Amino acid sequence: MLEPFEAVIDFTFYEMTWDLQPGPEELSRIGAGESVLICDYFGRSVPSSTSLAIEEARSRGVVVLSDTTHSPFTPPTWSFDLAIISLRKTLPIHDGAILVGALAHPPPEFEAVDESRIAAREAMAARKASLVAAGTDSGDEAAGLRDFENYLQTLDKPTAMSRKSRSIIDALNFEIIANRRRANADELLNRVEQINAVRALPDYSRTIVPAFITCQVSDARTVQQALSKQGIFCPVHWPRPDQLAATPWRNDLISLPIDHRYDRDDMVRISSALQHHLEDA
Ligand SMILES: Cc1ncc(COP(=O)(O)O)c(C=O)c1O
Repeated sequence: MLEPFEAVIDFTFYEMTWDLQPGPEELSRIGAGESVLICDYFGRSVPSSTSLAIEEARSRGVVVLSDTTHSPFTPPTWSFDLAIISLRKTLPIHDGAILVGALAHPPPEFEAVDESRIAAREAMAARKASLVAAGTDSGDEAAGLRDFENYLQTLDKPTAMSRKSRSIIDALNFEIIANRRRANADELLNRVEQINAVRALPDYSRTIVPAFITCQVSDARTVQQALSKQGIFCPVHWPRPDQLAATPWRNDLISLPIDHRYDRDDMVRISSALQHHLEDA
């Protein structure tokens, strides 16, 4: 994600705690005038020790950038200078993002987005969804979907959200979506707590709306494959790239879906499938 900026921004990575939170000590090392990017992965809350460390850094002149793409339904629980939310991770739209903050310069000019490409991507995504549902997905749509991503990379200026995405957003009821996600998350958390070989990450609270319930298991890839055979599709946490052979890599995390497309019966089905897989293993 940061690669395109390597030539213009001098950045380093900070250590995360085992449960993917920035540690207070790491935050205390950031100097005045530097920026830090805080992300609430999977829509979990940030522990109070971390939010205190963020406040402390800000009061020392650290610029706090916040990426709340995984929790777009609630504002960040820490204070920030600039927040970004990409909307297509959690909502049924294909483009669009929100940027919040006091921008020093007037907003940049927007480039016109090619609406026909948005429509083509939507058709491909719908086709893929129906093939996946029928169990006949051959991966043929992947190239078309990649083309769309490549098209986005060719744009020099920001684009305004497409009309299509805007009209979908206008039609959505966010309260219903948020309530369903919270109810599903509660149900699934209660159920996975009963399974010995699964440990949900901490800091899921009722004050925010999670994107997934992310759990620690011994071999996430195998669990993911077993669940997909039951028609339960968990997001892929990227496999280790060959170039990063020496970098520590997490292969113990799996994100279980709890979003608004699902209900209590689905949570029962997910937890049973997980339990059966782990107990049979
Ligand atoms: C936390 C977070 N922020 C931003 C992005 C980028 O979003 P987009 O692909 O819509 O630019 C991602 C993509 O996975 C993400 O997980």
